[in-house]
Amino acid sequence: MPKYYLTTPIYYVNDVPHLGHAYTSIAADVLARYHKLNGDDVFLLTGTDEHGAKIAEAAKEAKKSPQEFVDQLVPKFENLCKVLNVQYSQFFRTTNPKHEKIVQEFIDKLNKAGYIEKRKYQGLYCVGCEKFLTPDDLVDGRCPDHKTEPVMQSEENYFFLLSKIAEEKDLYNLIKSDKFKVSPVARKNEVLGKIKAGLEDVSISRESVEWGVKFPGDESQTVYVWVDALINYLSATKIYKDGPIWPADLHLIGKDILWFHAVIWPAMLLAVGEKLPKEVFAHGFFTIDGHKMSKTVGNVLDPIELVEKYGADAVRYAILREFPFGEDGDISEEKIALRYEKELANGIGNLLNRTLVMINKYGAKVSDKEIDRLGTSVGEKVQRLDFHGALETIRLIVETGNEIIEEKKPWELAKGNKTKELNELLNEVYWILNSITKNIASFMPDTSEKMKKQLKTLKPEPLFPRIEK
Ligand code: MSP
Repeated sequence: MPKYYLTTPIYYVNDVPHLGHAYTSIAADVLARYHKLNGDDVFLLTGTDEHGAKIAEAAKEAKKSPQEFVDQLVPKFENLCKVLNVQYSQFFRTTNPKHEKIVQEFIDKLNKAGYIEKRKYQGLYCVGCEKFLTPDDLVDGRCPDHKTEPVMQSEENYFFLLSKIAEEKDLYNLIKSDKFKVSPVARKNEVLGKIKAGLEDVSISRESVEWGVKFPGDESQTVYVWVDALINYLSATKIYKDGPIWPADLHLIGKDILWFHAVIWPAMLLAVGEKLPKEVFAHGFFTIDGHKMSKTVGNVLDPIELVEKYGADAVRYAILREFPFGEDGDISEEKIALRYEKELANGIGNLLNRTLVMINKYGAKVSDKEIDRLGTSVGEKVQRLDFHGALETIRLIVETGNEIIEEKKPWELAKGNKTKELNELLNEVYWILNSITKNIASFMPDTSEKMKKQLKTLKPEPLFPRIEK
Protein backbone atom coordinates (compact mmCIF):
# COMPACT_ATOMS: atom_id res chain seq x y z
CA MET A 1 0.00 0.00 0.00
CA PRO A 2 1.54 3.37 -0.94
CA LYS A 3 1.63 5.74 2.03
CA TYR A 4 0.13 9.20 1.90
CA TYR A 5 1.08 11.56 4.72
CA LEU A 6 -0.93 14.74 4.81
CA THR A 7 -1.08 17.57 7.37
CA THR A 8 -3.18 20.59 8.30
CA PRO A 9 -1.65 23.54 10.14
CA ILE A 10 -1.78 23.12 13.90
CA TYR A 11 -4.17 25.79 15.10
CA TYR A 12 -3.56 28.40 17.79
CA VAL A 13 -5.73 27.75 20.79
CA ASN A 14 -6.06 31.36 21.91
CA ASP A 15 -9.78 31.29 21.21
CA VAL A 16 -12.55 28.95 20.06
CA PRO A 17 -12.25 27.55 16.51
CA HIS A 18 -13.87 29.42 13.63
CA LEU A 19 -14.78 28.63 10.03
CA GLY A 20 -11.23 29.41 8.82
CA HIS A 21 -9.89 26.47 10.82
CA ALA A 22 -12.68 24.31 9.46
CA TYR A 23 -11.80 25.22 5.87
CA THR A 24 -8.32 23.68 5.78
CA SER A 25 -9.39 20.68 7.84
CA ILE A 26 -12.33 19.89 5.55
CA ALA A 27 -10.12 20.07 2.47
CA ALA A 28 -7.54 17.82 4.11
CA ASP A 29 -10.23 15.32 5.04
CA VAL A 30 -11.60 15.22 1.50
CA LEU A 31 -8.12 14.46 0.18
CA ALA A 32 -7.47 11.88 2.88
CA ARG A 33 -10.73 10.09 2.15
CA TYR A 34 -10.08 10.20 -1.57
CA HIS A 35 -6.66 8.59 -1.08
CA LYS A 36 -8.10 5.99 1.31
CA LEU A 37 -10.77 5.03 -1.20
CA ASN A 38 -8.00 4.60 -3.74
CA GLY A 39 -6.17 2.18 -1.51
CA ASP A 40 -3.46 4.41 -0.02
CA ASP A 41 -2.26 4.04 3.54
CA VAL A 42 -3.24 7.53 4.72
CA PHE A 43 -1.95 9.37 7.75
CA LEU A 44 -3.78 12.66 8.34
CA LEU A 45 -2.25 14.83 11.02
CA THR A 46 -3.93 17.83 12.63
CA GLY A 47 -3.70 19.45 16.03
CA THR A 48 -3.05 22.51 18.14
CA ASP A 49 -0.23 25.03 18.51
CA GLU A 50 -0.21 25.77 22.21
CA HIS A 51 2.87 27.81 23.15
CA GLY A 52 3.95 31.41 22.65
CA ALA A 53 3.12 34.97 23.61
CA LYS A 54 -0.29 35.02 21.95
CA ILE A 55 -1.56 32.08 24.02
CA ALA A 56 0.13 33.33 27.20
CA GLU A 57 -1.60 36.70 26.83
CA ALA A 58 -4.99 35.12 26.18
CA ALA A 59 -4.55 32.91 29.25
CA LYS A 60 -3.62 35.90 31.39
CA GLU A 61 -6.72 37.72 30.29
CA ALA A 62 -8.84 34.69 31.16
CA LYS A 63 -7.07 34.57 34.56
CA LYS A 64 -5.90 31.03 33.96
CA SER A 65 -2.49 29.41 33.78
CA PRO A 66 -1.48 28.82 30.14
CA GLN A 67 -1.70 25.05 30.63
CA GLU A 68 -5.19 25.24 32.16
CA PHE A 69 -6.22 27.63 29.43
CA VAL A 70 -5.12 25.42 26.53
CA ASP A 71 -6.44 22.25 28.18
CA GLN A 72 -9.85 23.79 28.23
CA LEU A 73 -9.77 24.91 24.58
CA VAL A 74 -8.16 21.91 22.88
CA PRO A 75 -11.30 19.71 23.21
CA LYS A 76 -13.20 22.33 21.20
CA PHE A 77 -10.78 21.84 18.31
CA GLU A 78 -11.03 18.07 18.56
CA ASN A 79 -14.78 18.39 18.66
CA LEU A 80 -14.79 20.58 15.54
CA CYS A 81 -13.18 17.70 13.63
CA LYS A 82 -15.74 15.30 14.99
CA VAL A 83 -18.66 17.52 14.11
CA LEU A 84 -17.33 18.10 10.58
CA ASN A 85 -16.61 14.41 10.12
CA VAL A 86 -12.90 15.08 9.70
CA GLN A 87 -11.27 11.70 10.25
CA TYR A 88 -7.78 12.56 11.41
CA SER A 89 -5.30 9.79 12.15
CA GLN A 90 -3.70 11.75 14.95
CA PHE A 91 -4.47 14.93 16.86
CA PHE A 92 -1.19 16.55 17.82
CA ARG A 93 -0.55 18.87 20.78
CA THR A 94 2.69 20.81 21.05
CA THR A 95 2.51 20.60 24.87
CA ASN A 96 3.16 16.86 24.61
CA PRO A 97 6.42 16.36 26.60
CA LYS A 98 7.70 13.92 23.98
CA HIS A 99 7.37 16.63 21.35
CA GLU A 100 9.10 19.16 23.58
CA LYS A 101 12.06 16.82 23.86
CA ILE A 102 12.19 16.28 20.09
CA VAL A 103 12.17 20.07 19.57
CA GLN A 104 15.17 20.40 21.88
CA GLU A 105 17.01 17.61 20.07
CA PHE A 106 16.28 19.27 16.75
CA ILE A 107 17.77 22.55 17.96
CA ASP A 108 20.81 20.73 19.31
CA LYS A 109 21.34 19.29 15.85
CA LEU A 110 20.99 22.72 14.21
CA ASN A 111 23.54 24.02 16.65
CA LYS A 112 26.01 21.17 16.12
CA ALA A 113 25.69 21.59 12.35
CA GLY A 114 26.72 25.23 12.77
CA TYR A 115 23.47 26.97 11.90
CA ILE A 116 22.81 28.77 15.18
CA GLU A 117 24.38 32.00 16.41
CA LYS A 118 23.66 34.31 19.34
CA ARG A 119 23.00 37.93 18.37
CA LYS A 120 21.57 41.09 19.76
CA TYR A 121 18.34 41.92 18.02
CA GLN A 122 15.90 44.73 17.93
CA GLY A 123 12.67 44.66 15.98
CA LEU A 124 8.94 45.24 15.79
CA TYR A 125 7.08 42.19 17.02
CA CYS A 126 3.42 41.46 16.25
CA VAL A 127 1.97 39.08 18.84
CA GLY A 128 -1.04 38.31 16.61
CA CYS A 129 1.28 37.04 13.86
CA GLU A 130 3.88 35.74 16.33
CA LYS A 131 6.59 37.26 14.17
CA PHE A 132 8.81 40.31 13.67
CA LEU A 133 7.56 42.72 11.03
CA THR A 134 9.66 45.07 8.93
CA PRO A 135 8.66 48.73 8.54
CA ASP A 136 7.60 47.84 4.97
CA ASP A 137 5.06 45.35 6.31
CA LEU A 138 3.19 48.04 8.26
CA VAL A 139 0.21 50.08 7.12
CA ASP A 140 -0.11 53.35 9.07
CA GLY A 141 2.22 51.92 11.66
CA ARG A 142 0.02 48.88 12.23
CA CYS A 143 0.06 45.20 11.30
CA PRO A 144 -2.24 44.94 8.25
CA ASP A 145 -3.65 41.60 9.44
CA HIS A 146 -4.26 42.35 13.09
CA LYS A 147 -4.65 46.15 12.96
CA THR A 148 -2.49 46.42 16.08
CA GLU A 149 0.75 48.33 16.62
CA PRO A 150 3.71 45.96 16.88
CA VAL A 151 5.87 46.24 20.00
CA MET A 152 9.54 47.19 19.82
CA GLN A 153 11.55 44.32 21.25
CA SER A 154 15.21 44.31 21.99
CA GLU A 155 16.70 41.01 23.09
CA GLU A 156 19.71 38.82 22.82
CA ASN A 157 18.44 35.81 20.87
CA TYR A 158 19.64 32.69 19.14
CA PHE A 159 19.45 32.97 15.39
CA PHE A 160 18.95 30.31 12.78
CA LEU A 161 21.26 31.02 9.85
CA LEU A 162 18.60 30.81 7.18
CA SER A 163 20.58 32.69 4.55
CA LYS A 164 23.61 30.40 4.94
CA ILE A 165 21.76 27.09 4.59
CA ALA A 166 19.51 28.36 1.79
CA GLU A 167 22.56 29.32 -0.20
CA GLU A 168 24.54 26.17 0.56
CA LYS A 169 21.69 23.86 -0.45
CA ASP A 170 20.33 26.14 -3.16
CA LEU A 171 16.81 26.29 -1.78
CA TYR A 172 15.87 28.61 -4.64
CA ASN A 173 16.46 25.92 -7.23
CA LEU A 174 14.92 23.16 -5.14
CA ILE A 175 11.70 25.16 -5.30
CA LYS A 176 12.14 26.31 -8.88
CA SER A 177 12.67 22.75 -10.15
CA ASP A 178 9.73 21.43 -8.08
CA LYS A 179 12.01 19.01 -6.21
CA PHE A 180 10.33 20.73 -3.32
CA LYS A 181 6.98 21.74 -4.73
CA VAL A 182 5.25 24.95 -3.70
CA SER A 183 1.73 25.29 -5.07
CA PRO A 184 -0.17 26.90 -6.69
CA VAL A 185 2.31 28.31 -9.20
CA ALA A 186 1.50 31.91 -8.32
CA ARG A 187 2.53 31.21 -4.72
CA LYS A 188 5.69 29.48 -5.88
CA ASN A 189 6.68 32.53 -7.91
CA GLU A 190 5.90 34.80 -4.99
CA VAL A 191 8.25 32.77 -2.78
CA LEU A 192 10.98 32.64 -5.44
CA GLY A 193 10.80 36.41 -5.85
CA LYS A 194 11.16 36.96 -2.13
CA ILE A 195 14.10 34.58 -1.84
CA LYS A 196 15.81 36.40 -4.66
CA ALA A 197 15.29 39.71 -2.88
CA GLY A 198 17.40 38.34 -0.01
CA LEU A 199 16.94 36.19 3.06
CA GLU A 200 17.22 37.33 6.65
CA ASP A 201 18.25 35.05 9.47
CA VAL A 202 15.52 34.13 11.92
CA SER A 203 15.48 34.69 15.65
CA ILE A 204 14.46 31.31 17.08
CA SER A 205 14.43 32.01 20.80
CA ARG A 206 12.63 34.39 23.14
CA GLU A 207 13.91 35.83 26.36
CA SER A 208 10.65 37.54 27.24
CA VAL A 209 8.30 34.63 26.61
CA GLU A 210 8.10 32.04 29.37
CA TRP A 211 5.36 29.85 27.91
CA GLY A 212 7.31 27.62 25.57
CA VAL A 213 9.87 24.85 25.23
CA LYS A 214 13.07 25.66 27.15
CA PHE A 215 15.89 26.51 24.76
CA PRO A 216 18.48 23.73 25.02
CA GLY A 217 21.66 24.95 26.68
CA ASP A 218 20.13 28.26 27.81
CA GLU A 219 17.21 27.99 30.20
CA SER A 220 16.73 31.76 30.22
CA GLN A 221 15.14 31.51 26.77
CA THR A 222 12.29 29.59 25.20
CA VAL A 223 12.10 28.23 21.66
CA TYR A 224 10.32 30.53 19.21
CA VAL A 225 6.77 29.23 18.87
CA TRP A 226 6.98 28.84 15.08
CA VAL A 227 10.03 26.58 15.29
CA ASP A 228 8.30 24.48 17.93
CA ALA A 229 5.16 24.34 15.74
CA LEU A 230 6.80 23.40 12.43
CA ILE A 231 8.66 20.51 14.02
CA ASN A 232 5.28 18.94 14.88
CA TYR A 233 5.07 17.48 11.37
CA LEU A 234 8.25 15.51 11.91
CA SER A 235 7.90 14.74 15.59
CA ALA A 236 4.44 13.23 15.06
CA THR A 237 6.03 10.60 12.84
CA LYS A 238 8.49 9.72 15.59
CA ILE A 239 5.93 9.67 18.42
CA TYR A 240 3.02 8.00 16.72
CA LYS A 241 4.42 5.95 13.87
CA ASP A 242 6.90 3.09 13.83
CA GLY A 243 7.28 2.76 10.10
CA PRO A 244 9.00 5.39 7.97
CA ILE A 245 6.39 7.88 6.86
CA TRP A 246 8.50 11.03 6.67
CA PRO A 247 8.67 12.97 4.36
CA ALA A 248 5.14 14.34 4.32
CA ASP A 249 3.44 14.10 0.94
CA LEU A 250 1.56 17.33 1.44
CA HIS A 251 1.38 20.21 3.91
CA LEU A 252 -1.93 21.93 3.42
CA ILE A 253 -1.90 25.52 4.69
CA GLY A 254 -3.47 28.94 4.23
CA LYS A 255 -1.55 31.57 2.29
CA ASP A 256 -0.90 33.54 5.51
CA ILE A 257 1.70 31.03 6.67
CA LEU A 258 3.37 30.28 3.35
CA TRP A 259 6.79 31.76 4.18
CA PHE A 260 7.18 29.58 7.26
CA HIS A 261 6.30 26.44 5.32
CA ALA A 262 7.98 27.14 1.99
CA VAL A 263 11.21 28.70 3.24
CA ILE A 264 11.92 28.43 6.96
CA TRP A 265 10.74 24.82 7.39
CA PRO A 266 12.63 23.30 4.43
CA ALA A 267 15.73 25.28 5.46
CA MET A 268 15.51 23.84 8.99
CA LEU A 269 15.17 20.34 7.56
CA LEU A 270 18.08 20.79 5.17
CA ALA A 271 20.24 22.03 8.02
CA VAL A 272 19.72 18.83 10.04
CA GLY A 273 19.91 16.55 6.99
CA GLU A 274 16.25 15.49 6.88
CA LYS A 275 14.28 14.95 3.69
CA LEU A 276 12.00 17.72 2.49
CA PRO A 277 8.23 17.37 2.30
CA LYS A 278 7.10 16.68 -1.25
CA GLU A 279 4.67 19.57 -1.49
CA VAL A 280 3.28 22.61 0.29
CA PHE A 281 -0.05 23.86 -1.01
CA ALA A 282 -1.32 27.26 0.14
CA HIS A 283 -5.02 27.89 -0.28
CA GLY A 284 -6.65 31.30 -0.35
CA PHE A 285 -8.57 33.12 2.33
CA PHE A 286 -12.26 33.74 2.41
CA THR A 287 -13.96 36.91 3.45
CA ILE A 288 -17.46 37.05 4.90
CA ASP A 289 -19.78 39.25 2.84
CA GLY A 290 -16.69 40.99 1.47
CA HIS A 291 -15.11 41.64 4.88
CA LYS A 292 -12.25 39.98 6.67
CA MET A 293 -13.70 37.59 9.26
CA SER A 294 -12.98 39.15 12.63
CA LYS A 295 -14.32 39.34 16.15
CA THR A 296 -14.23 43.14 16.13
CA VAL A 297 -16.33 43.30 12.98
CA GLY A 298 -18.60 40.67 14.54
CA ASN A 299 -18.90 38.56 11.39
CA VAL A 300 -17.20 35.38 12.59
CA LEU A 301 -19.01 32.32 11.29
CA ASP A 302 -19.26 29.50 13.80
CA PRO A 303 -18.83 26.16 12.01
CA ILE A 304 -20.64 24.30 14.80
CA GLU A 305 -23.76 26.45 14.42
CA LEU A 306 -23.68 26.00 10.65
CA VAL A 307 -23.44 22.22 11.01
CA GLU A 308 -26.35 22.20 13.47
CA LYS A 309 -28.46 24.00 10.91
CA TYR A 310 -27.35 22.54 7.58
CA GLY A 311 -25.56 19.33 8.52
CA ALA A 312 -21.85 18.52 8.18
CA ASP A 313 -22.05 17.35 4.58
CA ALA A 314 -23.73 20.50 3.36
CA VAL A 315 -21.17 22.73 5.11
CA ARG A 316 -18.33 20.65 3.64
CA TYR A 317 -19.90 20.92 0.21
CA ALA A 318 -20.78 24.61 0.32
CA ILE A 319 -17.42 25.83 1.54
CA LEU A 320 -15.38 23.93 -1.06
CA ARG A 321 -17.90 24.63 -3.80
CA GLU A 322 -18.03 28.39 -3.47
CA PHE A 323 -14.66 29.39 -5.02
CA PRO A 324 -11.43 27.74 -6.26
CA PHE A 325 -9.26 26.40 -3.46
CA GLY A 326 -6.06 28.26 -4.34
CA GLU A 327 -7.82 31.60 -4.67
CA ASP A 328 -9.48 34.05 -2.32
CA GLY A 329 -13.24 34.15 -2.24
CA ASP A 330 -16.28 35.22 -0.36
CA ILE A 331 -18.65 33.19 1.74
CA SER A 332 -21.70 33.90 3.89
CA GLU A 333 -24.51 32.02 5.49
CA GLU A 334 -26.81 33.15 2.65
CA LYS A 335 -24.46 31.58 0.13
CA ILE A 336 -24.37 28.32 2.06
CA ALA A 337 -28.18 28.33 2.32
CA LEU A 338 -28.49 28.91 -1.43
CA ARG A 339 -26.18 26.04 -2.32
CA TYR A 340 -28.11 23.85 0.09
CA GLU A 341 -31.42 24.64 -1.52
CA LYS A 342 -30.41 24.74 -5.18
CA GLU A 343 -27.70 22.13 -5.55
CA LEU A 344 -28.33 19.76 -2.67
CA ALA A 345 -32.07 19.70 -1.84
CA ASN A 346 -33.39 20.55 -5.33
CA GLY A 347 -30.39 19.01 -7.10
CA ILE A 348 -29.08 15.69 -5.78
CA GLY A 349 -31.90 15.18 -3.25
CA ASN A 350 -34.66 15.74 -5.77
CA LEU A 351 -33.04 13.58 -8.45
CA LEU A 352 -32.71 10.67 -6.05
CA ASN A 353 -36.20 11.07 -4.68
CA ARG A 354 -38.11 11.36 -7.92
CA THR A 355 -36.13 8.53 -9.52
CA LEU A 356 -36.82 6.12 -6.68
CA VAL A 357 -40.50 7.12 -6.60
CA MET A 358 -40.82 6.41 -10.34
CA ILE A 359 -38.91 3.13 -10.19
CA ASN A 360 -41.39 1.98 -7.55
CA LYS A 361 -44.45 3.41 -9.20
CA TYR A 362 -43.74 1.96 -12.63
CA GLY A 363 -42.23 -1.27 -11.32
CA ALA A 364 -39.02 -0.73 -13.29
CA LYS A 365 -36.24 -3.31 -13.03
CA VAL A 366 -32.92 -1.64 -12.32
CA SER A 367 -29.48 -3.21 -12.18
CA ASP A 368 -26.12 -1.90 -10.93
CA LYS A 369 -24.23 -1.89 -14.13
CA GLU A 370 -20.75 -0.55 -13.29
CA ILE A 371 -20.30 2.56 -15.31
CA ASP A 372 -18.76 5.45 -13.53
CA ARG A 373 -19.22 8.34 -15.91
CA LEU A 374 -17.65 10.82 -13.58
CA GLY A 375 -14.87 8.88 -11.93
CA THR A 376 -11.81 9.92 -13.88
CA SER A 377 -12.67 13.53 -14.28
CA VAL A 378 -13.64 14.10 -10.63
CA GLY A 379 -10.64 12.09 -9.41
CA GLU A 380 -8.19 14.10 -11.50
CA LYS A 381 -9.60 17.32 -10.13
CA VAL A 382 -9.46 16.17 -6.51
CA GLN A 383 -5.83 15.13 -7.00
CA ARG A 384 -5.07 18.62 -8.26
CA LEU A 385 -6.93 20.03 -5.24
CA ASP A 386 -9.48 21.53 -7.59
CA PHE A 387 -12.39 20.78 -5.26
CA HIS A 388 -14.47 23.55 -6.75
CA GLY A 389 -14.11 22.05 -10.23
CA ALA A 390 -14.78 18.51 -9.01
CA LEU A 391 -18.03 19.62 -7.38
CA GLU A 392 -19.02 21.54 -10.50
CA THR A 393 -18.57 18.35 -12.53
CA ILE A 394 -20.78 16.49 -10.10
CA ARG A 395 -23.39 19.26 -10.19
CA LEU A 396 -23.48 19.10 -14.00
CA ILE A 397 -24.22 15.40 -14.00
CA VAL A 398 -27.00 15.93 -11.45
CA GLU A 399 -28.41 18.52 -13.78
CA THR A 400 -28.12 16.10 -16.70
CA GLY A 401 -30.05 13.49 -14.71
CA ASN A 402 -32.85 15.93 -14.00
CA GLU A 403 -32.89 17.10 -17.63
CA ILE A 404 -33.15 13.58 -19.02
CA ILE A 405 -36.25 13.06 -16.89
CA GLU A 406 -37.80 16.35 -18.01
CA GLU A 407 -37.07 15.62 -21.66
CA LYS A 408 -38.07 12.00 -21.90
CA LYS A 409 -41.04 12.29 -19.53
CA PRO A 410 -41.28 8.82 -17.96
CA TRP A 411 -44.91 9.52 -16.96
CA GLU A 412 -45.85 9.77 -20.63
CA LEU A 413 -43.87 6.66 -21.53
CA ALA A 414 -45.85 4.87 -18.80
CA LYS A 415 -49.15 6.19 -20.15
CA GLY A 416 -48.23 4.95 -23.63
CA ASN A 417 -47.18 1.54 -22.24
CA LYS A 418 -43.65 1.99 -23.61
CA THR A 419 -42.21 -0.36 -21.01
CA LYS A 420 -38.87 -0.95 -22.68
CA GLU A 421 -38.06 2.76 -23.12
CA LEU A 422 -39.28 3.51 -19.62
CA ASN A 423 -37.07 0.83 -18.17
CA GLU A 424 -34.04 2.02 -20.13
CA LEU A 425 -34.60 5.59 -19.06
CA LEU A 426 -34.96 4.80 -15.36
CA ASN A 427 -31.90 2.56 -15.55
CA GLU A 428 -29.88 5.38 -17.05
CA VAL A 429 -30.81 7.78 -14.27
CA TYR A 430 -30.23 5.05 -11.72
CA TRP A 431 -26.67 4.60 -13.02
CA ILE A 432 -26.09 8.32 -12.90
CA LEU A 433 -27.16 8.25 -9.27
CA ASN A 434 -24.78 5.39 -8.54
CA SER A 435 -21.97 7.33 -10.07
CA ILE A 436 -22.86 10.47 -8.05
CA THR A 437 -22.94 8.35 -4.90
CA LYS A 438 -19.41 7.16 -5.52
CA ASN A 439 -17.99 10.50 -6.48
CA ILE A 440 -19.37 12.50 -3.58
CA ALA A 441 -18.06 9.95 -1.07
CA SER A 442 -14.99 11.98 -0.03
CA PHE A 443 -16.89 15.27 0.02
CA MET A 444 -20.14 14.18 1.67
CA PRO A 445 -19.50 10.80 3.28
CA ASP A 446 -22.83 10.52 5.15
CA THR A 447 -24.90 11.54 2.15
CA SER A 448 -23.06 9.04 0.01
CA GLU A 449 -23.84 6.26 2.51
CA LYS A 450 -27.50 7.27 2.65
CA MET A 451 -27.74 7.30 -1.13
CA LYS A 452 -26.11 3.91 -1.37
CA LYS A 453 -28.66 2.46 1.02
CA GLN A 454 -31.63 4.05 -0.71
CA LEU A 455 -30.46 2.93 -4.13
CA LYS A 456 -30.23 -0.61 -2.80
CA THR A 457 -33.59 -0.74 -0.99
CA LEU A 458 -35.34 1.65 -3.40
CA LYS A 459 -36.87 3.38 -0.37
CA PRO A 460 -36.82 7.16 -0.83
CA GLU A 461 -36.13 9.34 2.19
CA PRO A 462 -35.29 13.05 2.01
CA LEU A 463 -31.52 13.64 1.88
CA PHE A 464 -31.62 17.36 2.52
CA PRO A 465 -34.77 18.33 4.42
CA ARG A 466 -36.16 21.82 4.06
CA ILE A 467 -34.68 24.31 6.51
CA GLU A 468 -36.70 26.87 8.44
CA LYS A 469 -35.56 30.36 7.47
N1 MSP B 1 -0.39 28.01 14.59
C1 MSP B 1 -0.16 28.53 13.30
C2 MSP B 1 0.13 27.42 12.31
C3 MSP B 1 1.29 26.55 12.66
S1 MSP B 1 1.49 25.25 11.51
C4 MSP B 1 2.96 24.59 11.90
C5 MSP B 1 -1.39 29.30 12.83
N2 MSP B 1 -2.55 28.98 13.42
S2 MSP B 1 -3.97 29.68 13.13
O1 MSP B 1 -4.87 29.18 14.15
O2 MSP B 1 -3.84 31.09 13.02
O3 MSP B 1 -4.48 29.05 11.80
C6 MSP B 1 -4.11 29.58 10.59
C7 MSP B 1 -4.77 28.77 9.48
O4 MSP B 1 -6.20 28.82 9.61
C8 MSP B 1 -4.51 29.34 8.11
O5 MSP B 1 -3.28 28.96 7.58
C9 MSP B 1 -5.65 28.74 7.35
O6 MSP B 1 -5.31 27.39 7.13
C10 MSP B 1 -6.81 28.84 8.34
N3 MSP B 1 -7.58 30.09 8.20
C11 MSP B 1 -7.76 31.04 9.16
N4 MSP B 1 -8.60 32.02 8.68
C12 MSP B 1 -8.96 31.73 7.43
C13 MSP B 1 -9.78 32.35 6.44
N5 MSP B 1 -10.43 33.48 6.65
N6 MSP B 1 -9.87 31.72 5.23
C14 MSP B 1 -9.24 30.52 4.97
N7 MSP B 1 -8.47 29.93 5.88
C15 MSP B 1 -8.29 30.51 7.10
O7 MSP B 1 -1.26 30.12 11.95
